[in-house]
Amino acid sequence: MTINGVALDELIDAPAGLRSVVAAETRIGDVRGQEGFYHYRQYSAIELASACSFEEVWFLLFEGRLPDRAELAEFTDEVARSRSLPTELLPVLPAIAVSGRPMVGLRTALSMLAAARDLQPVWDSEPATRRADALLICAVAPTILAALHRLHRGLEPVAPRADLSTAGNWLYMLTGESPRPQATRAIEQYLIATIDHGFNPSTFTARVVASTGADVASGVIAAIGAFSGPLHGGAPDRALDGLDEIGSADRIDGWVSEKVAKGDRVMGFGHAVYRTADPRSVLLRAIGIELGGELVEFATTVERRVTEVLAELKPGRDLYTNVEFYAGVVMELCGIPRSMFTPTFATSRVVGWTANILEQADTAKVIRPSARYVGPRAPQPLPPRV
Ligand SMILES: CC(C)(COP(=O)(O)OP(=O)(O)OC[C@H]1O[C@@H](n2cnc3c(N)ncnc32)[C@H](O)[C@@H]1OP(=O)(O)O)[C@@H](O)C(=O)NCCC(=O)NCCS
Repeated sequence: MTINGVALDELIDAPAGLRSVVAAETRIGDVRGQEGFYHYRQYSAIELASACSFEEVWFLLFEGRLPDRAELAEFTDEVARSRSLPTELLPVLPAIAVSGRPMVGLRTALSMLAAARDLQPVWDSEPATRRADALLICAVAPTILAALHRLHRGLEPVAPRADLSTAGNWLYMLTGESPRPQATRAIEQYLIATIDHGFNPSTFTARVVASTGADVASGVIAAIGAFSGPLHGGAPDRALDGLDEIGSADRIDGWVSEKVAKGDRVMGFGHAVYRTADPRSVLLRAIGIELGGELVEFATTVERRVTEVLAELKPGRDLYTNVEFYAGVVMELCGIPRSMFTPTFATSRVVGWTANILEQADTAKVIRPSARYVGPRAPQPLPPRV
C-alpha cells in the first residue's frame, strides 16, 4: 500500500508542527533561532531596519538586491502611484467595514479586487505580470485597511498621499493628520523588521497556495487567514492588554503564575524558533525607550519579571519576549489604535508573502505532504442503513 506514491513503511514522520523540516529552498532570507539572528537576502534584517527605508527593503525582497538611488526613486514613485483605493471597491467597502474586523475585511476586499481585475494564475502568467499583481496588492493593502478602520467608525476614508513614505502614509491614512517624523521612523523600522521571518505559518500557507499555480491574491488571502490567529499575527494587542491587566509591578508575579496554572499562554512571550531573545523584540524595546514614557518603562519591568517567573515555572523552555510584546508598546506610543496593531503588521508582512509567492511561482513543484491515518482500521463494513 502507498500514500502519495510512497510505500507506507517509507513514510517519514515529521515532528509535530513540522518543526525542523526543510520544505523548500529560498533566497529570500532565514531565521537562525539559536543565535537570535535573521536576515533578508544576505543582510541582517535589524541592520536594514536601522539603515534603510521601507521601500528600499521592499525592493530588496522583490528584486534580490538593494536599489541604487535612481531605482529607489522610481520604485518609491511606483509604490506611491499604486496606493489609491481601487475604484471597484468603493461601493462595497462600507458593507465590508460593518464587521469591524479589519483583517477579515482585507481578505474579502482583496478577493473582490482580484475578481474585478481578473488576476491570472501565476502558472499562466509572465514574471512581470506576477510582480505587478504583487506590487498592487502590497500598495493597496494599507489603503484598504485604513479605509475599513475609518468607515467602521463612521468616518470618511482618508485618501493616500503620494508625497509620504509607506510608513508616514499609513499613519496619515489612519488619523488624517500629518505624521510626526519620530513616529513615522519608529513605525518604518517596525515595518522593515517584520517584512519576512522564515517559513512562518502564513508564509508557508502563501507558498503552498502559490505552489499550485493559483493567482497572487489567492496566496495572500490564504496567508491572511493563517496570520489572523492569535498564535501568529494576532497577538500585539493582546500583549498590550496583558500590560493593562497587570496594571502595577506588584501584581506581575501573581498574574503570570495564575495564567500558567490555568494553562494559558502569556501573550508576547515564547517563539517557535528563537531560543534566545527575539532580535525584533530587542530592536523594538530600543525604539520604545527612545520614544519614552511610563508605558515603556512599565513594559521593561514586566518583561524582566515575567521572563524570570516563566523560567521558574517552565524550566528549560527558554521563553523570552517575542516581536509582539514591544510592537504593541511602540504602536501605542505612535498613536495607532489597538484594533489596528495586527493590520499594521500585515501591511509589512504582505511584502514578505508576495516575495515568497513570486519565488515559489518559479518552482513547478506542488507542496503536498502526507498525513498518517490514525483512525479505525479501514475498510470496515458499512453499518446497516436504516
Ligand atoms: C509563539 C508560540 C505559539 C510558540 O510556541 P512553541 O515553540 O510551539 O512552543 P510550545 O507551544 O511547544 O510550548 C513549549 C512549552 O512552553 C510553554 N509556553 C510557550 N509559550 C508560552 C507562553 N507565551 N506563555 C506560557 N507558556 C508558554 C508551553 O506551554 C509549553 O509548555 P509545556 O512543555 O509545559 O507544555 C508560543 O510561544 C505562544 O503561544 N506564545 C504566545 C502567543 C504569542 O505571543 N504569539 C506571537 C508569536 S510571534
